[in-house]
Amino acid sequence: MNKITKNQIEQLKPSATLAINEKSKILEKGGKKIYRFGFGQSPFPVPEAIVSSLKKNSNKHQYLPMQGLEELRLEIANYLNKNNNNNFTKENIVIGPGTKELMFHTQIAFAGEVLLPAPSWVSYQPQAVVAQNKVHWLQTNRDTNWFPAADLLEEKIKKIKEKKLLLLMNSPNNPSGKVCKNLKEIAEVAKKHKLIILSDEIYSQLTFNNDYKSISNFYPEGTIVSSGLSKWCGAGGWRLGFFAIPNELDELKKSLIKLCSESFTSVSAPIQYAAIEAYKGDHSSYIDNVRKILSCVGNYVYENLNSNKIILDKPDGGFYLFPEFLNAKFSSSSEMCEDILKKTGVALLPGSDFGLENHKMIARLSYTDFDGGAFLSHTSGSKKLDDADLRKYAPNIVDGVSKLKEWSNLL
Ligand SMILES: Cc1ncc(COP(=O)(O)O)c(C=O)c1O
Repeated sequence: MNKITKNQIEQLKPSATLAINEKSKILEKGGKKIYRFGFGQSPFPVPEAIVSSLKKNSNKHQYLPMQGLEELRLEIANYLNKNNNNNFTKENIVIGPGTKELMFHTQIAFAGEVLLPAPSWVSYQPQAVVAQNKVHWLQTNRDTNWFPAADLLEEKIKKIKEKKLLLLMNSPNNPSGKVCKNLKEIAEVAKKHKLIILSDEIYSQLTFNNDYKSISNFYPEGTIVSSGLSKWCGAGGWRLGFFAIPNELDELKKSLIKLCSESFTSVSAPIQYAAIEAYKGDHSSYIDNVRKILSCVGNYVYENLNSNKIILDKPDGGFYLFPEFLNAKFSSSSEMCEDILKKTGVALLPGSDFGLENHKMIARLSYTDFDGGAFLSHTSGSKKLDDADLRKYAPNIVDGVSKLKEWSNLL
């Protein structure tokens, strides 16, 4: 492929999720009530024990090893082996300032082409463009649970000349909110064709039925597991993520570490020390409550939007839904989202930002517009949450859903 030009870089749009946040802020400043269903940020505070570990370690000021703090890497490997049934050592772990940065460097280090399910998270494709990796889209739909069907994946691979391929997988999924049910079948195809899988498991602890499986269990030698602090413990702004890279992909790991050392050097020392507590400590009651709230809010939105005007799937995890507006007649999903924002104040992201064809009237809805701290402090283990709790602690969700429903009824 030809080198990307400065002009092509100038043409890149700012990350879609960040752009909608900026647009919503401007409208809000002008006095409009905005329902922030566009931006996917955890609404919950970081667990107290992890915050306190950060405070205790604020005096740590030295540069840390390029690959990441050894003690943290050891805890992450232990954590994955215990919870994900993996077999990693600390040598397999690389720490970065968020998984996004590690993915970007991986795309640069990887010499081959990229397979992306459509829909996929907004940053995979622009990162591939900057890294000059050709992208092959794998179309999915509601009937395939928004994940690639294994036989279609194999058909696609056979049509591609380049044999070094990187497949991006993300379950629980952003934007669909679904958990992949055909991991084993996809892993079999990947193994047969020696694909590298980058398994983005950033939402894995937020799986509502608490029965998470990683594709690395079916294809350990070819799967990179990607996760971090951003979603399960509300620490997106701390910027800490990791990759677990199997021994078989050692060359790629070495290139990745070199690129990291020439760009960000190492992740902030206090954050790495604090993250030891995140992976060593027991945060199960916090996570259980977070999951319970998200599942209750997600199901409320699902049940209240699901109608003869809007189709959507019951959420399995993470914090997104992917509604389709059946009678909407716009030239593109972004035009539809602009109309929704203008008429109702509900900010959504168009399906086209995730690689879906423009004419599909689908948008991503993030159900995180509530005060997670207040909700969490009124949620304890066994108490069931009901609509009254939701009205009290997530009023923007209730009102935004009702505005969206009114809008869809006028179509
Ligand atoms: C699917 C997915 N992967 C990765 C990321 C980036 O996470 P991090 O904060 O670790 O860079 C996000 C954040 O929105 C995401 O939704």
